[in-house]
Amino acid sequence: MKETPRYVLALDQGTTSSRAILFNKAGGIVSVAQKEFKQLFPSPGQVEHDASEIWSSQLGVAAEAVAKAGAKGTDIAAIGITNQRETTIVWDRHTGKPVYNAIVWQDRRTASFCDELKAAGHEPLIRGKTGLVIDAYFSATKVKWILDNVAGAREKAAKGLLAFGTVDAWLVWNLTEGKVHATDVTNASRTMLFNIHTLEWDKELLDLFGIPESMLPEVRQSSEIISETAPSIFSVTIPIAGIAGDQHAALFGQMCTSAGMVKNTYGTGCFMLMNIGEQPILSENNLVTTIAWKINGKVEYALEGSIFIAGAVVQWLRDGLGIIRSSSEVEALATKVAHNDGVYLVPAFAGLGAPHWEQHARGTLVGMTRGTTAAHIARAALESIAYQTMEVLKAMEADAGISIKELRVDGGATNNNLLMQFQADILHTKVIRPKVTETTAMGAAYLAGLATGFWKSKEEIATQWEVDHSFTPGGNREEIARWIKGWGNAVKAVKAWAKL
Ligand code: G3P
Repeated sequence: MKETPRYVLALDQGTTSSRAILFNKAGGIVSVAQKEFKQLFPSPGQVEHDASEIWSSQLGVAAEAVAKAGAKGTDIAAIGITNQRETTIVWDRHTGKPVYNAIVWQDRRTASFCDELKAAGHEPLIRGKTGLVIDAYFSATKVKWILDNVAGAREKAAKGLLAFGTVDAWLVWNLTEGKVHATDVTNASRTMLFNIHTLEWDKELLDLFGIPESMLPEVRQSSEIISETAPSIFSVTIPIAGIAGDQHAALFGQMCTSAGMVKNTYGTGCFMLMNIGEQPILSENNLVTTIAWKINGKVEYALEGSIFIAGAVVQWLRDGLGIIRSSSEVEALATKVAHNDGVYLVPAFAGLGAPHWEQHARGTLVGMTRGTTAAHIARAALESIAYQTMEVLKAMEADAGISIKELRVDGGATNNNLLMQFQADILHTKVIRPKVTETTAMGAAYLAGLATGFWKSKEEIATQWEVDHSFTPGGNREEIARWIKGWGNAVKAVKAWAKL
């Protein structure tokens, strides 16, 4: 008799590591495997990944997670893919080899070209069609850069020999051994080439960037059987049944499934998304409009505030500055001082994202005195994550015309109680941490499990979401207002420098 599969496998391909998690029917984590991979910084402002390493590390952790659980391919009902978004890979359709390294979402090499697009007045067109602001963050200018700078690429692309994809499409291509070239609506909505109203690649934008349509993947729903894995991968074929960009997957994993619900994920960056329902409202406060997901033919939209550096600032304290040996030491170091004593760190290492969108900003430390210590810098680094989140939440409240009553949080840094309490204090909003903070992977698993009947409905899934801790805002409002003003001044200084 055929056994009923017990698990769903989530592949979570992030900016600094590839992870694989097996979930059981109760939404519990059965096994996790994770591998960091190389970050390449060819020159200041440039960030690349080796696309082959993205694939090999992802495949390796998938096998490891399955083995750790003592499972086999037949135990897996479906695979859900979630990924770092915008990161751009162009490969040869015949050899399957990338023609250049993956250009990572944080990469700023196309900032000047983006300035030219703005100066030429393209902002309203691009914003209207894609919901995005013009910024080097999104994929379009990165694809153009590869076509312009890799010898022979433009000619090959014109002949239909090259494929472009965000990381999800690259994984699907490899999981199917080149049979399927597909992405989902959420990832497509981050390319600056996808019309979020018609749900099609936009010909006018493709012309503007000089990108042949033949390079683009087919766009599928976030929850549907996209294909089966090639038999050689897991020795059986497994349906790939869900794809979503990591932030969209986290919104789903947090069960923010009604309009007005908001989550913030603390990863390499911080990404706050608010479900806005079935109409793509454009932000008036420098947020972007994005597709939350498409399930059963129904599209829902979200407003997003993207913060480029959050958890990465702690990595920088470890690897760049060397004041901690491991990221977990940051809380202990930061609590050596009771407050920041006027020291602010604006970690604009990759420019400033929402709500400032200042591509040329760079990291800045202000307010130091002779008494400033490593503890102050660690504290300022942690606080910067919370202040940036506050700016985005305020923009979201202004767009939505409501005061947000609770913020659901997830991601690695949410284990840091000092940060979460500080976050609640400065937001003056309840911050809610769920029991499972792996909501990105969980969201991908849910999307895949829904498409294959592993879970029957959103309602069934919603019963699995549980609160671990609710951080209630406290502190002295006047004092907090002074701190917030200090942060505002630090950001002003960064923006003024960027204009020099
Ligand atoms: O937009 C970039 C985002 O998707 C990256 O997420 O979790 O890898 O920092 P993360």
